Amino acid sequence: MKLDVISILDLEADLEDVIASSMRLKAGALRDAFPLKGKTLAMIFEKSSTRTRVSFEAGMAQLGGHALNLSPKELQLGRGETIADTAKVLSRYVDCIMYRAFDHGMMRDLAKNATVPVINALDDLEHPCQVVADLMTILERKRRFQGIRLAYVGDGNNVCNSLMLGASLVGMDFVSAHPEGYGPDKKLRAKAAALAKKSGCESSQVVDPIEAVKGADVIYTDTWVSMGMEEEAEERLRAFQPYQVNAALVRKAKRGRIVMHCLPAHRGQEITDEVMDGPDSVVFDQAENRMHTEKAILLRAIR
Ligand code: CP
Ligand code: NVA
Repeated sequence: MKLDVISILDLEADLEDVIASSMRLKAGALRDAFPLKGKTLAMIFEKSSTRTRVSFEAGMAQLGGHALNLSPKELQLGRGETIADTAKVLSRYVDCIMYRAFDHGMMRDLAKNATVPVINALDDLEHPCQVVADLMTILERKRRFQGIRLAYVGDGNNVCNSLMLGASLVGMDFVSAHPEGYGPDKKLRAKAAALAKKSGCESSQVVDPIEAVKGADVIYTDTWVSMGMEEEAEERLRAFQPYQVNAALVRKAKRGRIVMHCLPAHRGQEITDEVMDGPDSVVFDQAENRMHTEKAILLRAIR
């Protein structure tokens, strides 16, 4: 069976193994081994990317493989060829497809029709690869997940959805704070709550950002206006003003706290310069860890 990563839940059985493998890769494992020699990854980006694009492409090169960057404008996809036909054709040429999509339905359609593994590089529902790197970063800093409390402050978006599920999978307490109507996906919330029960941790939502960060070991935020939501920008910037991760908010969390952001940051909006460049920030470790975790995900997918 092919090993797709469409949701972080697809890694349920081996999330901790993938993180352990990422750590070994970071420490230099397989440096001169090139296990993906002769393998090709097709990368389809419907939206902009710095970290995902470069970490996957450089990661493939380091493992001895090759990555092709394809935009819908260059593909016949942009002229109306279906995602299903694109999936069937690409599967005849490459060993894995990575896709950054506007629509989760298109992501599912690609995965259903591809005979090679498909990796979700972000869609409107989830960003699983980001969360593997985030969990690795938390483990590096905190050495454990049990008893750790993560407070996500801001928009209940793709990153928040995957993080909420990922926290429940590894047994870490999760609370998110957002204005009414901007919480994480309802179905995924129920899924996270059920998984949390199984793992013996908590997963909840609140409105008050101060309530969320009190007692938190990790504070996490992301943009208030995700790609594809630009039309709602004005209303969102207004709604999220009380949710800025600034020094006053961060001080309410535990000593030894870390502050995380998947990046790109909108400095002065969801996070201040003072916090992003301050001693609690691990945002650039997170960005680096994208590379190590993408490599571990590729090694799991391409056999
Ligand atoms: N965090 C993240 O996915 O960044 P990019 O949009 O730059 O890939
Ligand atoms: N939530 C953001 C993440 C960017 C990496 C977006 O979807 O634009």
